Parts: sequence; C-alpha cells; structure tokens
Amino acid sequence: MTGLFITLEGPEGAGKSTNREYLAERLRAEGIEVLLTREPGGTPLAERIREVLLMPGDEVMSADTELLLVFAARAQHLAEVIRPALAKGAVVLCDRFTDSTYAYQGGGRGLSLERIATLETFVQGDLRPDLTLVFDLPVEVGLARASARGRLDRFELEGRVFFDAVRSAYLKRAEADPKHYRLVDAAQPLAQVQQSLDALLPQLLGLYRG
Ligand SMILES: Nc1ncnc2c1ncn2[C@@H]1O[C@H](COP(=O)(O)OP(=O)(O)O)[C@@H](O)[C@H]1O
Ligand SMILES: [Mg+2]
Repeated sequence: MTGLFITLEGPEGAGKSTNREYLAERLRAEGIEVLLTREPGGTPLAERIREVLLMPGDEVMSADTELLLVFAARAQHLAEVIRPALAKGAVVLCDRFTDSTYAYQGGGRGLSLERIATLETFVQGDLRPDLTLVFDLPVEVGLARASARGRLDRFELEGRVFFDAVRSAYLKRAEADPKHYRLVDAAQPLAQVQQSLDALLPQLLGLYRG
C-alpha cells in the first residue's frame, strides 16, 4: 500500500463531514489525489446496507445483526473502494470506520470488544487506518447540532446513556494509542477547529510522503 488511510470519527454533529471537505481541499492544494468516502456505505451496495442500518423501523434490530451488517458493508467498501484507492497511492479520507463500530456497537450497544476485534481481523486482515481524527464534543452539543439538521436516524434516536458510552469508547481508544489517534476539540467554533486541522497538516503530509 502506498497511499494513506485517514479516518474521521466522532458522534453525530461533531463536524466530520464538514471538516472532511476542508481537509480534502487542503491536501488537494498540495497536489495529492484524495478520495472522500464514508461508512457505513461508500459503494452502491454498501449504501443499501446503510439504509437498512439507519432507517428506524418497527422490528427491533438485534445488536448482532447490526454488527454484522456494519462489517458486511465494510467488506464491500474495502474491496471496491478503499483498497484500490490506497493501492494507487491516494489519500483516503473516510467519514467513520471501525472505531465507530467499537464506539457504537461496543460502547453504545455493549457488544463484546473481543468479538468486534475478531470481525475486524476477519474483514480487514491487517489493514488499519494510518491516522484517526476523533472529533470530540459534549454529548448535548452534538445532539443539538444533529437534530437541527432534520429528521433523526435510528442511532440519533438513542438516548443520553448510549451517547455517553459512545464518547467514552472513542476517548478510551484514542488514549490507548496516541500514535494513531489525534483528538480534535469539536466544540470550538468551526474556524478554530479548522486551525487545529491546519496544525495537523504537516504531520499528515509527513506520513504520506514518508
Ligand atoms: N465547530 C462547529 N461549530 C458549530 N457548528 C458546526 C461546527 N462543525 C459543524 N457544525 C455544524 O453542525 C452540523 C453537523 O456537522 P456535520 O459536519 O454534518 O457533522 P457530522 O458529519 O459529524 O455529523 C452542520 O450543520 C454543521 O454546519
Ligand atoms: Mg456526517
């Protein structure tokens, strides 16, 4: 693999999508090929699985079903989009990846982290993000931003306890592996968040150019 795999993580309303565009522009200005993508989704088939995952419905989805659907979508995304892009040397900026699985299905739903790790290896082999940016902010700030955006999806309908667990899971993973994670204070005004990203840019370029 010659490219660079960067993931953006954090709860709803943290600013992942907004800042993904910003980072892409900055990298493209350096003449780098950037691929923007997201999970769950990123291919037509994986986007159909996303709809199943996000659509609120009458039948309660079991936590294991949710976990397996997330990894099914990821297998497709890796095969069709992420691995080919990395192989040709692009920077892949992915809005959510397996840290979301640890945070939502592990932290939020309480599924075993060992089982998630087993599926992670099954689906990804030894592929892991080169760097993960965790957009961190107080739960209520994120929820307020997400609900201002419109209709809530199946995850956004969860309550405070769920999102507290999601946030703790993210923070724990970031703290355990400082080499591969950067925390971004996402509660700041957007201009300041983007200044923090500017400050990270030399590190990203260093990782990419080796
Ligand atoms: N730092 C910020 N301060 C205030 N509002 C923000 C900030 N970052 C993003 N937003 C707004 O919050 C909403 C959610 O942002 P978005 O990038 O879609 O978050 P995510 O993709 O993490 O759910 C959008 O309306 C966006 O304009
Ligand atoms: Mg988003």
